[in-house]
Amino acid sequence: MSWADKEGLGLNGGFKRVKVLIVGSGGREHCIVWKIFQSSLVDKIYCAPGNGGTALVAENLEIAATDIDSLLKFARKEKIGLTIVGPEAPLVEGIVDKFQSAGLKIFGPRKELALLEGSKIYAKEVMRKFGVPTADFEVFTGPEKAKEYIIKKDAPIVVKADGLAAGKGVIVCQNKSEAFAAVDLIMVDKKFGQAGERIIIEECLQGEEVSVLVFTDGETILPLISSQDHKRIFEGDKGPNSGGMGAYSPAPLVGEDNLTDIIKKVFKPVIEGLKREGKPYKGILYGGLMMKNDIPYVLEFNVRFGDPETQAILPKLKSDLVEIILKAIDGKLLGTKLEWDSRFCLCVVLASGGYPGSYQKGKEIKGLESLESREDIFVFHAGTKLVSRNQSAAVSLLTSGGRVMGVVGLGDNIEDAQNKVYKAIKKVEFEGMYYRKDIGYKAALK
Ligand code: AMP
Ligand code: GLY
Repeated sequence: MSWADKEGLGLNGGFKRVKVLIVGSGGREHCIVWKIFQSSLVDKIYCAPGNGGTALVAENLEIAATDIDSLLKFARKEKIGLTIVGPEAPLVEGIVDKFQSAGLKIFGPRKELALLEGSKIYAKEVMRKFGVPTADFEVFTGPEKAKEYIIKKDAPIVVKADGLAAGKGVIVCQNKSEAFAAVDLIMVDKKFGQAGERIIIEECLQGEEVSVLVFTDGETILPLISSQDHKRIFEGDKGPNSGGMGAYSPAPLVGEDNLTDIIKKVFKPVIEGLKREGKPYKGILYGGLMMKNDIPYVLEFNVRFGDPETQAILPKLKSDLVEIILKAIDGKLLGTKLEWDSRFCLCVVLASGGYPGSYQKGKEIKGLESLESREDIFVFHAGTKLVSRNQSAAVSLLTSGGRVMGVVGLGDNIEDAQNKVYKAIKKVEFEGMYYRKDIGYKAALK
């Protein structure tokens, strides 16, 4: 659909059409851009800074996701009617407070509540206060006391830096010497800087992980379909953690019954508790859960859409995302129903060889044209950029990051989705391309 085709589609849900600003540059942000492009409530989309995929549908801005002052200046000048923030850093830095003070609509929690992701200690304290299932833990401000505690506890044990550490601040330690080394890394070597001034040491839970995200306006809770991420770089969930190598939705572990139970045990206590304290939480609340004996233990809260979970969830969402978000901001979610495509959705991430270690950039990406006309296959770019060829209008698409893109497919069941996605990937080429061949394997075992 072009902008011109959307003229005259009129109002939706009582809202006027708006210009939308998406903050971020990953696969999640391209997927959000793709989804809201279908909304009859959208006039124009900007993405800051965006990537080679968002450039095709939105106008990319040369503003970093963390440059809040420049984002605000732009939003004021262009009269942006809605800003959606992808990554956690600007939320934790207080982008929502600043936009709201300027009278601009923005989706996400204020700084004080973004601490649910920005401080693992704050999140744990909230969970403890509101009776949410989570691993037993202790907080430490120095390495000596932390090590004394480790000596008294059984391994495996988990050591976590309190603050944001680009997904690397959690170390699952198989024995006590690994745990000592983790404490030293965070508190003595200061690997994560200030984020490691305080740490959590917690019980290691065994079970199966699942991601449950909800929209909330501070009161009403609207769950999205469940999903499962694949964080490790190698097949069979081996090797170091990455930003996420693939995802699928729904997670067979979480059916309707389970979801109701998870809302009751995890999300209601937190959202109602915060509201009682006069701090209504608005935005997406993402629970990274470990299911153990049907009990949803919270490993972490995130205050934003997941990546790559979003790429496996939004293609299933039939409802208008912009309408839902505007309702959440205005406190009007009550009575809203989400419509879902019943098909299974699978996302496989294509990465640069060497990622999550060092890798090369600037490799030409080929073969995407053959996937463009498919109704059931989508490509969401992450580390890509469009580069003009010398003195001609033609452009090349080059790799510019570790996770390059996600290839996403809708299928009648897990096997069908896997077949479609892996067949589609065969058409895509860039030097050094790496991807996991087993995304969805746990769902296929069910
Ligand atoms: P987090 O950023 O807190 O979600 O942690 C990253 C990953 O570490 C999770 O996805 C889990 O795989 C693992 N993890 C975190 N906390 C625990 C825990 N208490 N027990 C077992 N694994 C954990
Ligand atoms: N998929 C994990 C995250 O978004 O943090």
